[in-house]
Amino acid sequence: MKRFSLAVLPGDGIGPEVTAEAVKVLRAAADLFGYRIETREYAVGAAGVAESDDALPERTRAAVVEADAVLLGAVGHPDLAAAEGKRRPEAGLLALRKLLGAYANLRPVVVHSSLVHTSPLRPERLAGVNLLIVRELTGGLYYGEPRALERETAVNTLRYSAAEIERVARVAFRAAAERRGVLTSVDKANVLEVSQLWRETVTRIGAEEFPAVELEHLYVDFAAMRLVADPARIDVLLTENLFGDILSDEAAVLAGSLGLLPSASLGDGPGLFEPVHGSAPDIAGRGVANPIGAIASAAMLLRYGFRLPDAAAAVDQAVAAVLTAGARTADIARDGERALGTREIGDEVARLVLWGEAVQPVPGH
Ligand code: IPM
Ligand code: MN
Repeated sequence: MKRFSLAVLPGDGIGPEVTAEAVKVLRAAADLFGYRIETREYAVGAAGVAESDDALPERTRAAVVEADAVLLGAVGHPDLAAAEGKRRPEAGLLALRKLLGAYANLRPVVVHSSLVHTSPLRPERLAGVNLLIVRELTGGLYYGEPRALERETAVNTLRYSAAEIERVARVAFRAAAERRGVLTSVDKANVLEVSQLWRETVTRIGAEEFPAVELEHLYVDFAAMRLVADPARIDVLLTENLFGDILSDEAAVLAGSLGLLPSASLGDGPGLFEPVHGSAPDIAGRGVANPIGAIASAAMLLRYGFRLPDAAAAVDQAVAAVLTAGARTADIARDGERALGTREIGDEVARLVLWGEAVQPVPGH
């Protein structure tokens, strides 16, 4: 029997509630496909600060690098919004991404047909949206030195090496080659030298290694407009860290709720899988958060972390079936519709993972 070790980092706010549902669904998939997942929980974010005054405690660091994959809930706590250094919850997440060498952040945005009326955008613009944002995750302004906040001035540094651009570009080109074959690279080359290097490097990698992928370059301001004006035209969107942070929240509007979106962060070490949403302290502990972002992240974990594409597909199908059946948490319920709780949605997905497969013909028998 195949065995996998999973480090679960529930984190803060709604993180523990949504990761519990994701783990439940992983267990259902494991039962169905006959493998074992050993999970252990570790603290991160404000939970890490509570445990050992560090948003990424030593115990967590030691565990994640040994795991086959890492599942994270969310980090961030209002009490620590002004905390400094390693007591900042967000700093724990950034340190974790760096520790794992997770330089390529994959954020798929698929608009489920039953949710086109949930978005404030016009339904006809949303039909057929199926895009993938590939965000560079361990460089750029988030990590550049020097950085400082002084009384009258502050500084952050935007720096990328060609090697950093090349490796994330390859991930994006490979994804595009397996999808519709179109890569949109986003930069600000009309102003920034870093973007000029970005554009040159992406163009070179495309010409040398991926001639079959169609490559276009957009300035980030125009890309922001395209994302809402004509999102179905985008296949894979590649961009640097901060632009990717901003554009991925914008893209979440297409799907209907930030609570639906998953991510995978891949690179040198074990993959890191987390929903795109934050810790949502306003609704934490009430059992109303949408677990689908976390569950869909678990599907990405099965696909990219454990390399179990059949199990990943079973989870994706179960999520789609639950949405088609009209099950909704409060963030996506329409006026007058009864909203389900976090756990009810998780139970339903887990049930459908098992049941959905049982009604399919068994190949090779
Ligand atoms: C995200 C989040 C993080 C980021 C924060 C919490 C540091 O917004 O994953 O998109 O900016 O990367
Ligand atoms: Mn963000």
